[in-house]
Amino acid sequence: MVIDPGRAFGTGAHPTTRLCLDLLQAVEPTSLLDVGCGSGVLSIAAAKLGFSPVSATDLDDVALETTRANASVNHVDVDVVEILPRAELAVMNIALEVVEGMLPKLPVERAITSGYLDRDEPQVDGWRHVERRARDGWAADLLEFRT
Ligand SMILES: C[S@@+](CC[C@H](N)C(=O)[O-])C[C@H]1O[C@@H](n2cnc3c(N)ncnc32)[C@H](O)[C@@H]1O
Repeated sequence: MVIDPGRAFGTGAHPTTRLCLDLLQAVEPTSLLDVGCGSGVLSIAAAKLGFSPVSATDLDDVALETTRANASVNHVDVDVVEILPRAELAVMNIALEVVEGMLPKLPVERAITSGYLDRDEPQVDGWRHVERRARDGWAADLLEFRT
């Protein structure tokens, strides 16, 4: 994989990105929505792992452009979107309060979340914890929506 983050976040080296990658490798590849895609590193890795379709979004236009460019360099299909499509799984490496605020609005039933410390865990009504990975004081979780 070739990733030029430019001015966007995401060389792939940060522990939270690596923890998300660990969990992406632990689940069956499905459709994926990458929220807060930054450089596109998670979308591109997921596409190479067989996730399809992969959609990516970010509130930063630089991140959207960087994700498009990095997907092209890596010869993978990543749909850079502003309106979020339904997907089976989301990945969100952002921050605890953003994860907790966005999770109820996402059109997905499972999510890999990170961007917070090992002492923290998202608490969102209807979402239950399935699995956790931790490294260097950071954590990532696999969460599932249960009615
Ligand atoms: C820590 S970076 C993660 C980048 C990449 N996914 C990775 O794992 O390396 C978080 C990204 O989330 C974006 N972001 C922050 N708040 C957001 C929001 N409310 N909606 C969408 N993207 C957001 C930021 O612009 C930034 O690109």
